[in-house]
Amino acid sequence: MGLVLRFLTAGESHGPGLTVVVDGLPAGVPVEREAIDADLRRRQGGYGRGGRMKIETDAVEILSGVRHGRSLGSPVSLVVRNRDHENWADVMSPDPQPASARERRRLRYPRPGHADLAGALKYGTDDLRNVLERASARETTARVAAGALAKALLRATGTEVRSHVVRIGRAGMPEGLVAWEALDCVEESPVRCVDAAAAEAMIAEIDRAKKDGDTVGGVVEVIARGAPPGLGSYVQWDRRLDGRIAQALMSIHAVKAVAIGEGFAGGVTRGSLFHDEILWDAGTGLERPTNRAGGLEGGVTNGEEVRALAVVKPIPTLLIALRSVDLATKEPQKASVERSDTCVVPAAGVVAEAMLALVLADALLEKTGGDSLDEVLAHLEATRAGQARLAGPR
Ligand SMILES: Cc1cc2nc3c(=O)[nH]c(=O)nc-3n(C[C@H](O)[C@H](O)[C@H](O)COP(=O)(O)O)c2cc1C
Repeated sequence: MGLVLRFLTAGESHGPGLTVVVDGLPAGVPVEREAIDADLRRRQGGYGRGGRMKIETDAVEILSGVRHGRSLGSPVSLVVRNRDHENWADVMSPDPQPASARERRRLRYPRPGHADLAGALKYGTDDLRNVLERASARETTARVAAGALAKALLRATGTEVRSHVVRIGRAGMPEGLVAWEALDCVEESPVRCVDAAAAEAMIAEIDRAKKDGDTVGGVVEVIARGAPPGLGSYVQWDRRLDGRIAQALMSIHAVKAVAIGEGFAGGVTRGSLFHDEILWDAGTGLERPTNRAGGLEGGVTNGEEVRALAVVKPIPTLLIALRSVDLATKEPQKASVERSDTCVVPAAGVVAEAMLALVLADALLEKTGGDSLDEVLAHLEATRAGQARLAGPR
């Protein structure tokens, strides 16, 4: 939960829709419905998605907090309807239904790697439908919608957020940092990978997994350019921005590891080759020739691009179902199979953008305060002037 910009999502995967309330967005931020829908579409895309994504073409409804294309400073509430819900009206009805409605889509055999078993134990139900409906990554639709609002605020203050796929299964990008400009064409790739040969190998990985009835994971990188220095703080553990970003990314379904910058290499590289030296150029001011730290030192943004990697596990619904148990009879069973994707790594990158944008927007507002975009911009300008005295023009 953000300190200033807060949001809560609600909604089940096959319920009427996904809802999010975003509180703390200043007044005057330009909000375009089309920009939110564009991100929703990107979340639904990517090579390796299954049948559900063909049913749903997500479109946002803005219920409050925006008037004539600008935020009002009041809570923004957004809804994305589940078009598939009409086929599930009785199964998901809030009102009592005949037993047939409960039985029709009942899930009996918990899928290893899903929330099915842990959720059943937690909430005391043997109807796994009650767990998976909310545990499903369909919830990330609401996050992406909220993230589009955060992106709008960031964009108005000069910060952009992008993502790309670094690895799918055994197919990875060549070593080395991917330049921001190279990401211009990322949406042209069906796997959202900017290296054509790597993208081809990634598609082949997905095809192989699909043919085997299996799934495949990967790694995404999410990058923010233009974030002002000084977001986050080292003064308390919960204000460190590296920790807040890691939590936000780790909270995405199927994300199992997060690194800031080249964090994964930190365990094997010597300090002299790991840290980013500080140079002075009389014309442009302080310079960092490398950015292995991913724009964060001491949990504070240092003005470089904020970069984080997230490892996405292979999704747990498999056609070649793993061993499980019937929770009612305790008989061995193959895990239930729900309509599913083969690979969600490209989509996870879009969700990661939303989460990074929400954390950065929150940290920005925490630094600047302000009830309106104009107040935020005025504070930012004063902050930048102060920083220029230390760091040069940049
Ligand atoms: C965008 C996205 C789509 C996903 N779609 C599916 C899916 O179709 N089938 C599936 O089994 N898991 C899917 N997952 C992963 C599960 O939601 C996730 O593994 C599950 O909720 C358990 O959470 P955990 O993996 O974080 O422990 C998806 C994840 C993301 C980010």
